Amino acid sequence: MRAQDQDGWVTKRCIEHVADMLEMPYIRVLEVATFYTQFQLKPVGTKAHIQVCGTTPCMLRGSEELIKVCKSKINEKPFETNKDGTLSWEEVECLGACVNAPMVMVFKDTYEDLTPERFEEIIDEFEAGKDVKVGPQIDRQFSAPEGGMVTLTEVPDRKATKVAKAPAKKKKQLKQKLPLSRRRQSKQKLKRQRLLSRSPQRKRRRLSLTTRHRCSKHQLAPKTT
Ligand code: FES
Repeated sequence: MRAQDQDGWVTKRCIEHVADMLEMPYIRVLEVATFYTQFQLKPVGTKAHIQVCGTTPCMLRGSEELIKVCKSKINEKPFETNKDGTLSWEEVECLGACVNAPMVMVFKDTYEDLTPERFEEIIDEFEAGKDVKVGPQIDRQFSAPEGGMVTLTEVPDRKATKVAKAPAKKKKQLKQKLPLSRRRQSKQKLKRQRLLSRSPQRKRRRLSLTTRHRCSKHQLAPKTT
């Protein structure tokens, strides 16, 4: 982009120089320059090259009318300059400001929420070398609602929203909680009880297993003589 800033477009010599600097084949740099619409590969308007977004959201909000303005005020064909060589235009794909459609981009700045009338004024201002207001052209900041905020307009009462502290009694109870090992034990006990109460058959089997286990445990070893 820095290289383009010098002449207003990217020359062949400039592409070669960048490739030499980065130690890569010329084609690699040319690929980047031809892929992105930000790069111009031939001379464009010296005061403004207008890129009109023609993708669906902008099209639905009237970008076709903006293109008509370009055709009547600049040149019938894209990339062709006006008589003085000061202005040119082209249609591009989405420029990422769909929420403020329709919009155009001139060099690095965007002009949004356009109407054909306001767009004509902007072109005249560029032609006259005046400073043009950047961003939304209606009464709003960035993509905020037109005319100012419509939600979250009240300042919250800090006292009312303060989180209530836990009462002292509750804190004491929390401190007196059982130690972890005891808690685990009681949990396991509860689980066992729940399992046994579910099916009497399982309960019986479990009981019998426990008894058998006990018996085998307490069985006396045969006497050796
Ligand atoms: S569609 Fe126009 S900016 Fe995204």
